[in-house]
Amino acid sequence: MRMYDIIEKKKMGESLTDDEIHFVIDGYVKGTIPDYQVSPLLMAIYFSGMDDRETAALTKAMMNSGDVVDLSEFGDATVDKHSTGGVGDKTSLVVAPIMASLGCKMAKMSGRGLGHTGGTVDKLESIPGFKTSLSPDEFFDQVRNTGLAIIGSTANLAPADKKLYALRDVTATVDSVPLIASSIMSKKLAAGAHNIVLDVKIGSGAFMKTEEDGRTLARKMVDIGKSFGRNIAAVVTNMDRPLGFAVGNSLEVLEAVSVLKNESRGDLRDICVALASNLLSLCYGWSEEESEARANEAIESGAALEKFKEWITAQGGDASFVDDPSLLGKAEYTFEFKAERDGYISHMNAETIGKTASVLGAGREKKTDDIDHTAGIILKRKTGDYVKKGETIALFYTSKEESEKAAAEMFSSAVDFSDESPIEKPLVYGVIK
Ligand code: URA
Repeated sequence: MRMYDIIEKKKMGESLTDDEIHFVIDGYVKGTIPDYQVSPLLMAIYFSGMDDRETAALTKAMMNSGDVVDLSEFGDATVDKHSTGGVGDKTSLVVAPIMASLGCKMAKMSGRGLGHTGGTVDKLESIPGFKTSLSPDEFFDQVRNTGLAIIGSTANLAPADKKLYALRDVTATVDSVPLIASSIMSKKLAAGAHNIVLDVKIGSGAFMKTEEDGRTLARKMVDIGKSFGRNIAAVVTNMDRPLGFAVGNSLEVLEAVSVLKNESRGDLRDICVALASNLLSLCYGWSEEESEARANEAIESGAALEKFKEWITAQGGDASFVDDPSLLGKAEYTFEFKAERDGYISHMNAETIGKTASVLGAGREKKTDDIDHTAGIILKRKTGDYVKKGETIALFYTSKEESEKAAAEMFSSAVDFSDESPIEKPLVYGVIK
């Protein structure tokens, strides 16, 4: 087999065989096929696409490029969730303890934030003492005892995806449905859970900008998951504005805790309940109504909050911040961003708001950048709200006093006003099963 012929074949819009796909992934991971040959193949895939069989074969080859976690000792109640990435998305911190409080086992690997999106591992690291890296024995023991562990993705989980994703990032080939679907599903399948819920985000803060593209991606991923014998559903959700009010690591942890304390209503809680209830339906076969009621009950009874504290403590963290938020620390400077005119907020560009939080110190541009866990934004107003000129729309938290001007300019470009109340978009577009 020659890489040249495989590139040529895809360039002409033909389907690749399973063996050809395996040859590419195997050779790329081993280093026998260079970046300069994989790059044009990615671009050919970008333009010619891949059919379902090819996408499943690519997923399988990437999944098998490293460790495949065996969770069979926990039976069929293993659960996992994955978000395609967004701004202010702290749902894992709420969904995981809800699920564990109801007897499911969540052995989860998560990522760090990059660019405008946040990552669960960075959020968890804002908790003093919390360890995001555990040995395999510690990881399994914690799942056995607590029902829940979340660690950073290990180097050998789908290493082919790590290498390919880095190449896609610099060759303008990230936003391809078969490449995203196989990238996400190779990691989810390798992580071993039997029941998987995907949160496919659409809108200004997401990879998928339109509902049609989001649904296409969701369908592909669900079909791949089923073809590997997993219970799987995708909830297609709105990322046209940040989720909740907090953007930035420790600020988001505190907002997640406020949902678990049953103190917070609105889009964040609604999406958490939607994700948890879909997972409960998959896991226990409960009806939609029963699953939703059980997820809400886990919050209202305090069971999910107790499970959260137990989990944080088990993983080395100091959970006393739950009762005393000041223990998470506070950024040195707080700046107010005020409305420049009267009117309705007609749009808040989530991607630009994510980038603003990065400018304040909450995110990183390069993987090696340091982040400030206390930096970020608290939104005081959101899309659809009517504001008066001079009213505070957002609070910026930073330890870099000099970042205020750049952050304010960027944030200003993210917010549009109108005289008319904007048409509200749905929070959940649908569930694909
Ligand atoms: N998230 C992933 O893990 N992979 C992609 O390709 C896109 C988003």
